[in-house]
Amino acid sequence: MEYWNNRYSDKGKIWGTKPSRTAIYALKLFKKYNIIKILIPGAGYGRHTKLFSKNNYAVTGIEISEIVLNVAKEFDSKSKLVLGSVLDMPFNNEIYDAIFCYNVLHLLLRNERVLFIEKCYKQLRDSGFVFFSVFSEQENSFGMGTKIEENTFESKPYRPTHYFTEEDILKHFKSFTVIETNVIKEKENHGDLGSHTHKLRYIFAKKNENFKI
Ligand SMILES: C[S@@+](CC[C@H](N)C(=O)[O-])C[C@H]1O[C@@H](n2cnc3c(N)ncnc32)[C@H](O)[C@@H]1O
Repeated sequence: MEYWNNRYSDKGKIWGTKPSRTAIYALKLFKKYNIIKILIPGAGYGRHTKLFSKNNYAVTGIEISEIVLNVAKEFDSKSKLVLGSVLDMPFNNEIYDAIFCYNVLHLLLRNERVLFIEKCYKQLRDSGFVFFSVFSEQENSFGMGTKIEENTFESKPYRPTHYFTEEDILKHFKSFTVIETNVIKEKENHGDLGSHTHKLRYIFAKKNENFKI
């Protein structure tokens, strides 16, 4: 929480006000299905909650940083925004049709990732959808910093990053039926890095209600 509060108080809307192309792609996929209510864990300043709320979805965002949550409340007044950690979900009794989660899962350590995905599973209706994007092993930063777990490195203090291979993401989402998974290039321009391109791995999958968790 401290890391993100500091990051946002220094840099404000770090990734700009426009949604990522990954989120625009997820929106296109969501439109093919009967989706009304969406949960967005790790909502940041609301650039993605706003994309979905503007497209008439009922959106709830969860965010750990109070500083950025207050920015999000101004930026996207249509979504419900809740302060808290994704590891403490659920924050309500709502069941969602889909979960969109952009670049949050890779910030967690192994046991936390498993717990978070389990919590997502429980907040989805039968046959509900997940769209998650994460750092892949093709990222330029892969291997930088101190190794703390398998494919997990701390290149900035208190900010571990897990890099997902395809096999790894499929294992994480074994309680879901995969519809699509691939790598998507996402251009960004911020901070010390200047212009750079992320190679994000995404997964679009459907809850398998017969899975025993
Ligand atoms: C890489 S940023 C992405 C933000 C947002 N998804 C976007 O694309 O604009 C990760 C976000 O997750 C939030 N976050 C990190 N750990 C969290 C946790 N355990 N619970 C809730 N939010 C968390 C951070 O504060 C930050 O806003």
